[in-house]
Amino acid sequence: MILSIESSCDDSAISITEIVSNKLLFHKKISQELEHSVYGGVVPELAARLHAEALPKILEECEPYFKDLKAVAVTSTPGLAVTLVEGVTMAKAIAVGLDIPIIGVNHLVGHIYSLFIEKETQFPLTVLLVSGGHTQVMEVKSLTEIETVAKSMDDSFGESFDKVAKMMGLGYPGGPLIQELAKGGDRKKHNFTIPLSQSPLIAFSYSGLKNAVRLAIQKAESKDDYKDIAASFEHIATAHLTQKLKKYFKTVKPQTFAIVGGASANIYLRGQIEELLKPHGAELLLSELKYCSDNAAMIGRVAVEMYKKNMFSSLEDLDIAPRSQL
Ligand code: KG4
Ligand code: ZN
Repeated sequence: MILSIESSCDDSAISITEIVSNKLLFHKKISQELEHSVYGGVVPELAARLHAEALPKILEECEPYFKDLKAVAVTSTPGLAVTLVEGVTMAKAIAVGLDIPIIGVNHLVGHIYSLFIEKETQFPLTVLLVSGGHTQVMEVKSLTEIETVAKSMDDSFGESFDKVAKMMGLGYPGGPLIQELAKGGDRKKHNFTIPLSQSPLIAFSYSGLKNAVRLAIQKAESKDDYKDIAASFEHIATAHLTQKLKKYFKTVKPQTFAIVGGASANIYLRGQIEELLKPHGAELLLSELKYCSDNAAMIGRVAVEMYKKNMFSSLEDLDIAPRSQL
């Protein structure tokens, strides 16, 4: 079995995964959404302190598995420096204490493998990762052959939902709150410009849209108008993704397409991507809803593959890399 730790942002999570069967034997996550909600976003130092409280509590529940552990895995990149350190320090202590090897896992690869929890992998795959930190399209051939073909030049898709929710005073995380508010709104009411629609670039940008939404919020006469703003924003934020993907599909025709990351839970986005894939006859893969947002089950799933390929780190060399990209 492998014990895996995730602490790259505001979720403290630990999983135990059986190596031979991929079975998830234990998974527990303590989220900090409530604590960060009053600030409208994640406060890194507060997050680190909460990890320091939560991780040891979860680890205590894993004690019955300690004797069967063959390795310990941990998210070491990318993420918030002060929170990554909490997980990596704990993982190193476990590796030394139990005399087992350590595996450093890339969080973004973790999101890709959230598709395969308790399942066999399925490659090749074109993946759209939409989270709080990233918006990118990747061509994935295997664990070690991952090529990023498009990414955001500024804010990420999920982050733009968080910022719009903050501007409206709704709380954090913004994705589910905006999705809920948008349900009763008119998607066509505000004619926000689709970002980069005149540009041949296959890339994403959300900062301009965010500013256009800010102006609409300032002009709103009552909170009732927020519904239409939320609906129109969700529509344009999604149209930007589908427009660029459509362009990309002119040259690359994926057989299998996947959406992963916290924002892949968005229902409107899922529906629009389904429509986009129909003419291509491509299969759409999605993670289970509970594994879209950050979790340790996905880190464990990657760790199993890395264990089988002997992709261990030395205790001295394993360090956090807050900003590394795929
Ligand atoms: O993957 P994740 O848990 O953390 C990162 O790795 O960043 O993603 C969190 C992000 C947040 O920005 C959150 O607002 C967004 O995912 N999110 C959503 C939805 N649910 C979560 N965005 C849009 N619609 C949703 N339903
Ligand atoms: Zn994530």
